[in-house]
Amino acid sequence: MDTRPRRTYLNERPRRNRNTAGIRALARENFVRVDKLIEPLFLIDGNSRAEPISSMPGINRLSEDKALSHIEKSLGLGICSFILFPAVDDALKDKHASYSYRSDCFYLRVIRAIKQRFPEAVLISDVALDPYSSDGHDGIVRDGKILNDETLEVLGKMSLAQAEAGIDIIGPSDMMDGRVGFLREALDTAGFTETGIMSYTAKYASAFYGPFRDALASAPKFGDKKTYQMDPANAAEALREARLDAAEGADFLMVKPALAYLDIIHRVKEATDLPVVCYNVSGEYAMVKAAAEKGWLDGDKARDEMLLGFFRAGADAVISYFAHEFAAHRAAIS
Ligand code: PBG
Repeated sequence: MDTRPRRTYLNERPRRNRNTAGIRALARENFVRVDKLIEPLFLIDGNSRAEPISSMPGINRLSEDKALSHIEKSLGLGICSFILFPAVDDALKDKHASYSYRSDCFYLRVIRAIKQRFPEAVLISDVALDPYSSDGHDGIVRDGKILNDETLEVLGKMSLAQAEAGIDIIGPSDMMDGRVGFLREALDTAGFTETGIMSYTAKYASAFYGPFRDALASAPKFGDKKTYQMDPANAAEALREARLDAAEGADFLMVKPALAYLDIIHRVKEATDLPVVCYNVSGEYAMVKAAAEKGWLDGDKARDEMLLGFFRAGADAVISYFAHEFAAHRAAIS
């Protein structure tokens, strides 16, 4: 005689909520919204220039005219925000990054042009010395050391020049101590009380920035960035940086990179009442593109899963080189 029970009694059957596409949609907890994505753009001087970046397939360095037409397309796809990086000629670089606040700096000119044409676009800048520095470091270098307080002065001039050009939010990516408070005061004193600060709060000394440094030719000329960028082994230190940036007046906190730092996104989000942004960096983009090119994974699905993961971890917004193609893909399927 068969003594086995005829049915297995399970109070909970989580699979019921995965049964059909409709039920899965009801149960879905997190979403990627195009207006929560920030698109990074690499800018170059000149006209009619769109230079591909070999380690970042699909991404180009754009001159003003090309950037304007690209932004028009992105806005049409629902992207609202852009973070802008200048690729500066080596001949214009010096130890003090003085080109960054020169009145003829092409980056400032392009910011003005974008703001004038698309006043509704949210523009975020990069505030750090490395794109303009002959040393390729984010701060002023003397005798092989990065000088914190001297660097703040330059970051201040750079920020004011960008604010004057019409940037909505400055993005200090340099990791110097005290720069958020210093820049807030500098902006306020000059009357730019409405200019926001998106601080690179927890920026790690990461191998995943490789393709970005190719894009800007901004790799350090000597040494590494470990005396200012954070040790990938640390988490409590991110909370310390978050506390300081919030106290100094940051409007957004950023965690960077994102993929290997989902725990940091989550912990910073729990610890603050400020919006948290993460930066899905160049190396994370390049990894997916390279594997997809080889046919080793489905690039579209990997991209979507990665972006979703950042929001699930707690990010309020995500900076990603995938922004444009994600938005285009979404528009195509809907
Ligand atoms: C430098 C800066 C870097 C990135 C953004 N701002 C590189 C670095 O610190 O060397 C990297 C972004 C990316 O890899 O996508 N101020």
